[in-house]
Amino acid sequence: MGIIAPSILSADFTCLGDELKAVEEAGADWIHIDVMDGRFVPNITYGPIIVEACKRVSGLALDVHLMIEKPDLMIPEFAKAGADYISVHAEACTHLHRTLQLIRSFDVKAGVALNPATPLSGIEYIIDQLDFVLIMSVNPGFGGQKFIDSSVEKIKSLSALLEKHGSDAIIQVDGGVNTETIKTVHQAGATSFVAGSAIFNTPDYTKTIAGLRKAM
Ligand code: DX5
Ligand code: ZN
Repeated sequence: MGIIAPSILSADFTCLGDELKAVEEAGADWIHIDVMDGRFVPNITYGPIIVEACKRVSGLALDVHLMIEKPDLMIPEFAKAGADYISVHAEACTHLHRTLQLIRSFDVKAGVALNPATPLSGIEYIIDQLDFVLIMSVNPGFGGQKFIDSSVEKIKSLSALLEKHGSDAIIQVDGGVNTETIKTVHQAGATSFVAGSAIFNTPDYTKTIAGLRKAM
């Protein structure tokens, strides 16, 4: 059974607490929180105070996806706010190994996110530092974009790479995940599925999450 992680980017922020409770009751596993700084990506979202607010309302693991430059400066704040998983972008980290150690020093699970154009080679020598790898299947910055098909091959290659190194890191896929795309990424080796618009833009979250699981 896969991990379903609704991205609150597509939630109704006038009632975020209700949205969080609704996806938890609907059978979600993690809450995915997209942090954007207007520099690494062309959009700005939210910071540690929203993570802290989510922590008070939700019993689910908080999965914080940092689409920000210089993440080291903010990792302690997100850890203190209650993040259970933190991913940083390989493209935004000069000293990726050190950044992953920093995340783990707070007892938070560490992940690396890779943009669609970024090769897997950048993580080959740091696999022992990884609890998960986030494969971006859209260009980061916005919800509701179309799934990029080449992500499937990338997930297959990642799966083989992790196996070669004896790693049990989770493969997460983020962007354009819906009932049409979830099966191929699951078959390719992904086990954690971020879905924003495919969940929050529907009227019945229980039915939607069950539908995603069934479509795998
Ligand atoms: C995009 C974010 C995603 C986004 C996915 O930069 O990282 O988490 O919320 O949205 P959907 O599922 O609508 O493609
Ligand atoms: Zn994300």
